[in-house]
Amino acid sequence: MKTDYDKKAATEIILGFDNRPEMLVQILHAFVARFAYLGEDGVRQIATELNLSRAEVWGVVKFYHDFRTEAPGRTVIKICQSEACQAMGSRDLTAHAEKTLGISMGSGDRAHTLEPVYCLGNCACSPAVMIDDQVYGRVDTRRFDTLVTDAESQ
Ligand code: FES
Repeated sequence: MKTDYDKKAATEIILGFDNRPEMLVQILHAFVARFAYLGEDGVRQIATELNLSRAEVWGVVKFYHDFRTEAPGRTVIKICQSEACQAMGSRDLTAHAEKTLGISMGSGDRAHTLEPVYCLGNCACSPAVMIDDQVYGRVDTRRFDTLVTDAESQ
């Protein structure tokens, strides 16, 4: 996932949606998929090219919790917080992750970003974790440490 902002690539994304303001949410998703987060440069360009105010674009960005607004750490870790995973220990796993990574859920540093997610479609193998877009099931604290170490070495 590239995080460097590229104005030309951003224009191509917006053109892919025919510069239609009603496609704003889809454009925002495409930006996050391409640049990993939505920053001031991206919001300004989207607003200009869709003929919206920056406040309008930021309003949508802030409304949806899925849109990351800061550059993520090198390894992005999501732990499922939904019911099935909670029943199988995701709260304890979250506490372990916060302690071992030294960050709290919903935050990060240059090395790691730790985010909640609400069902990864892997309920039968709870608790589920996503590390850098790869889903893992039946993750206990020991496996968590191994998966994070493996992801860091790639
Ligand atoms: S509830 Fe966690 S993967 Fe579905």
